[in-house]
Amino acid sequence: MQFTVQPSGGMVDAESRAASLADPGFGRVFTDHMVSARWNASAGWHDARLMPYGPLVIDPASAVLHYSQSVFEGLKAYRQPDGGVALFRPESNAGRMIDSCRRLALPELPVEDFVAACDLLVRTDAAWVPDGEAASLYLRPLMIADEVGLMVRPSDSVRFLLIASPAGSYFTGPLRPISLWLTQEYVRAAVGGTGAAKCGGNYAASLVAQREAMDHGCDQVVFVDAVEHRWVDELAGSNIVFVLDDGTLVTPELTGAILPGVTRDTVLTLARDAGHRVEERRVDVDEWREGARSGRIAEVFACGTAAVITPVGPLKWPGGEVTAGDGAPGPTTLALRQQVIDLQYGRTPDTHGWLRRVVRPPA
Ligand SMILES: Cc1ncc(COP(=O)(O)O)c(C=O)c1O
Repeated sequence: MQFTVQPSGGMVDAESRAASLADPGFGRVFTDHMVSARWNASAGWHDARLMPYGPLVIDPASAVLHYSQSVFEGLKAYRQPDGGVALFRPESNAGRMIDSCRRLALPELPVEDFVAACDLLVRTDAAWVPDGEAASLYLRPLMIADEVGLMVRPSDSVRFLLIASPAGSYFTGPLRPISLWLTQEYVRAAVGGTGAAKCGGNYAASLVAQREAMDHGCDQVVFVDAVEHRWVDELAGSNIVFVLDDGTLVTPELTGAILPGVTRDTVLTLARDAGHRVEERRVDVDEWREGARSGRIAEVFACGTAAVITPVGPLKWPGGEVTAGDGAPGPTTLALRQQVIDLQYGRTPDTHGWLRRVVRPPA
């Protein structure tokens, strides 16, 4: 894919940018540029360009607005100790987007084009990559069906977009365990459905349960399987890992209803490297309850690009709650978290080749 470069005439001035970077929050502020490319069945991918960030003009009869034929991704660029910038495992996100596209009957964007788009946007808007601890530039690639017409069928016209947003820590304040609400009424995804794809519909379906969690004073909702309502799947926006008292890591196996997290894979790989036993298998919610009570489950954490590794405190459900360990972040959780962060920020050797240098250090 060849990108036409159309620089922004109205770039944010350095002072306003510095003010935004001082406290970016998550997904609130966007950089000066975005990438766009179009696809249709006859021309394939075409009209790829880097252009000023700005609103889209979209026909109200566009397929995506009605039938949600869309997918997205999430990955980050990190400031390195020498002042350069690196992306973390962009090829993994590119591969997952291809899998999501297959499920949503969207055209595949080749890995090299996905990565080239990320490179171009990060290089162009490198001044937007924050320096601070736990801060990064979050990249949000997305693909939408923009054929105009109300027929329910795969769209013949599609648009790829990539935007970027400086991000602080997803969960604000000092690292504190999050509380989880076990929803019994709502399911996020069923095997054969779209749970393993990163598509907006999965998130739309999770919102009512997330609201239920917040109504019960919890930070996040945890979903169980759609058939027996007892096997732990994941949270609305991150995977979940249990640490047993002998150091074994247990995480729900990828059934097709769970998003295969890049962070999940990173954590499992690092844990195996460090000599932990790792089990990917079904986890019964009763195993969680009883394991937390007996001490067999020593720690629980959530993991994802935005969440990094976040300790889990209480699990609540109608009429009960349980907490693994003493409720404080556990040693394995903290060690893995530090390891992942050190890798992403280039402070430890990148033995798995996960960092992709996109911006060289200043001369
Ligand atoms: C539903 C869901 N599960 C898991 C994850 C974690 O995936 P990753 O580590 O690739 O960010 C995310 C975050 O993107 C998610 O939205």
